[in-house]
Amino acid sequence: MTREEPVGVVGAIIPWNYPILMASWKLGPALATGCTILLKPAEQTPLTALYLGALAKEVLWWSYVAGFPAGVVNILPGYGPTAGAAIAAHHEINKVAFTGSTEVGRLIAAASGTSNLKRVSLELGGKSPLVIFDDCNLDEAVEIAHNAIFANHGQNCCAGSRTFVQEGIYDRFVKKAKEMAAAKKVGDPFEEGTAQGPQIDETQFKKILELIESGKREGAKLECGGGPAAEVGYFIKPTVFSGVTDKMRIAREEIFGPVQQILKFKTFDEAVMRANDTQYGLAAGIVTNNIDKALMFAQSVHAGSVWVNCYDIVIPQAPFGGFKSSGYGRELGEDSLKEYLEVKTITMRVPMKSS
Ligand SMILES: *[C@@H]1O[C@H](CO)[C@@H](O)[C@H](O)[C@H]1NC(C)=O
Repeated sequence: MTREEPVGVVGAIIPWNYPILMASWKLGPALATGCTILLKPAEQTPLTALYLGALAKEVLWWSYVAGFPAGVVNILPGYGPTAGAAIAAHHEINKVAFTGSTEVGRLIAAASGTSNLKRVSLELGGKSPLVIFDDCNLDEAVEIAHNAIFANHGQNCCAGSRTFVQEGIYDRFVKKAKEMAAAKKVGDPFEEGTAQGPQIDETQFKKILELIESGKREGAKLECGGGPAAEVGYFIKPTVFSGVTDKMRIAREEIFGPVQQILKFKTFDEAVMRANDTQYGLAAGIVTNNIDKALMFAQSVHAGSVWVNCYDIVIPQAPFGGFKSSGYGRELGEDSLKEYLEVKTITMRVPMKSS
């Protein structure tokens, strides 16, 4: 017979872009499988996780705590090179679940290898393609592509950051994409009507601006935006580049900001090849009215999530994770539970004769 047993002590290291969501993606399966968890929130966003920890400790009126015995849910704020590295190298932590950059993911996998071979699941970066075919409804496609990249200010690991558009609709698409981005209200997130606030911090702000400059230098056509949106704060104008080619840095590197790259293509085969030509494999999308194209694309491209005529639809029941350098392991859905369980085979000899 087989038994599935909790892997044990889980170290979870989560990013700043969706603080409560990322905490719940780790806490849910870890607790459901009977593990204990040590959660390190990102240094930019520790408060949500600390509040969650306070709730876990809360004593209710009938004098039970919220349901977690002491030591089951542990919140440890800290920096990556100190707290994060200590978790990754710890000999009594049995598994690390990490969401963040590919660069740090490699460090965590290496630390597992040189410590106790703890289980590791990694949800890392992306440079996800969204391929739009001539046969689509243009306005709908423009909106899907816009939200694919600009949602959460582009601070999204599965952002549709390479928009491939078929040549027949290319010019009209670019015009509408530009109009939509230019109309986006950037400013105080607490103000009515604001669609985009500041980027998370100065490091990201500078990195995004540097990549925008590289796009201009390398010859992409700046359709709108292209710089800071205010005198102070980390606000960036929603930026659209057209005429982007595959070798440009803005087509290869994860920008993690409100910057849309529009690339032109001719044929289906070309689109599949170019969409898939990346070290990453987190997500991909296709907009078409042709079911054969949609299914062919979904089967061909190496990506953990493929969206057809929609984008960034992440639901608790459906597994989420990456191919290639976007990591390994799956979160959400039934698959996520496997990441927190060890399988034990018990084989028993039954005596042939009774005595
Ligand atoms: C997609 O990329 C992977 C390697 O990154 C490769 O093995 C695979 O053949 C590619 N598929 C297509 C359809 O290009």
